[in-house]
Amino acid sequence: MSFDLSVISNKKIILAVTGGIAAYKSAILVRRLKDFGFDVRVVMTQGAQAFITPLTFQALSGNPVHTTLLDSEAEAGMGHIELARWADLVLVAPASCDTLAKFAAGLADDLLSTLYLATKAPVWVAPAMNQQMWAAKATQRNLNTLVEDGVHVIMPDAGSQACGDVGLGRMPEPEDLAQQVIDYFHRAQRAIAEKFGMLAGKRVVVTAGPTREAIDPVRYISNHSTGKMGFAIAAACYAAGAKVTLLAGPVSLDTPNGVRRINVSSAIKMLDESMHQLEEGCDIFIATAAVADYRVAEVAEHKIKKAGDELHVSLVKNPDIVATIAQQTKRPFMVGFAAETRNVEEYAAGKLVAKKLDMIACNDVSRADIGFASDENAMIVFFADQYQLEKRDLEKASKQEIAQQLVEAIHDALHHEIEPV
Ligand code: C5P
Repeated sequence: MSFDLSVISNKKIILAVTGGIAAYKSAILVRRLKDFGFDVRVVMTQGAQAFITPLTFQALSGNPVHTTLLDSEAEAGMGHIELARWADLVLVAPASCDTLAKFAAGLADDLLSTLYLATKAPVWVAPAMNQQMWAAKATQRNLNTLVEDGVHVIMPDAGSQACGDVGLGRMPEPEDLAQQVIDYFHRAQRAIAEKFGMLAGKRVVVTAGPTREAIDPVRYISNHSTGKMGFAIAAACYAAGAKVTLLAGPVSLDTPNGVRRINVSSAIKMLDESMHQLEEGCDIFIATAAVADYRVAEVAEHKIKKAGDELHVSLVKNPDIVATIAQQTKRPFMVGFAAETRNVEEYAAGKLVAKKLDMIACNDVSRADIGFASDENAMIVFFADQYQLEKRDLEKASKQEIAQQLVEAIHDALHHEIEPV
């Protein structure tokens, strides 16, 4: 089974561990959740600390572990209300009888019970206990109350228990729990997409236009890119419900409605801003910019004066922005563009692999009727192997229509990837 990690990247999970022998499984659960790209913060009750140390969870989650309610140092770091707001999901695993009872009664006498009351995020509990305690009327009554209150209860497995009993009460395996969490975000994402648009809730960054590489304070190297395709894509992504940031090289185009535009000039500036956007959160990165392949090795401080018949300017290679972003560990879904004058498909497919992209849209710029300054375009889209979509032709159409078809292609790729197979 494969998943679109960009759907869940940056999702924040509080894993609350309470007292019980199953707490050791929660250590593995942190690993699995981290493997899937979640940001995990662990909250431990006093009981949990009798079974496993906070240090274990700190090492595994890469975040400080939260154990006490009224600790001034911890509150100064991330207070309990802030923590409650931070979470996209609170998963209590294992959830002890005592914790269930506290939740059901609305007590707030420790960090976890306070968090439970203070969070707006969905709360899941994975009860784990002796089969007799599970079957006890009070436990079942508390569970019914929690279900009525909107808590999602993950049913325990049956089997032999640490205490020697056999019956219901074992915490499901960490892999199963992690799977359920991913499935949940997957379903939630699809529901939002169906309701609001194909890219609803996605954060999209689009690079567009040419870059400008200074020679001296008054001259530069650039190219003929107008930025039209990138601007049309930014507009189409916004129309599909995404939050869009457009990193625009120097172009004379109006900013599309609803799009946040950041003007940049050189390739280095475009890369810096791209990395910054990645840190802020980006699910889909669309590189339409015609980035100058080379920049001037040493930009003259003052205007270069006319002298002699020849002028030699030494150039150095610019970084490849899209390839650099694609190499990052928490990488977004990567879309590149290729403008070619011959062997269009072959070169584009090569770039898809070389730059480690998820998708590439290519066009033949030797055709006068499409490409660069034209208002129309025609494209062929290639997908990375795992999307099982191979290739798609986008027929000649306005750049706006092409942009919409590209949004559909991105959506289809994302959904192909997240569909359990
Ligand atoms: O290698 P080539 O320039 O043909 O690749 C085109 C794709 O790579 C486009 O998506 C373009 O925006 C991106 N690119 C980049 N940084 C570069 C060069 C190209 O992001 N320095």
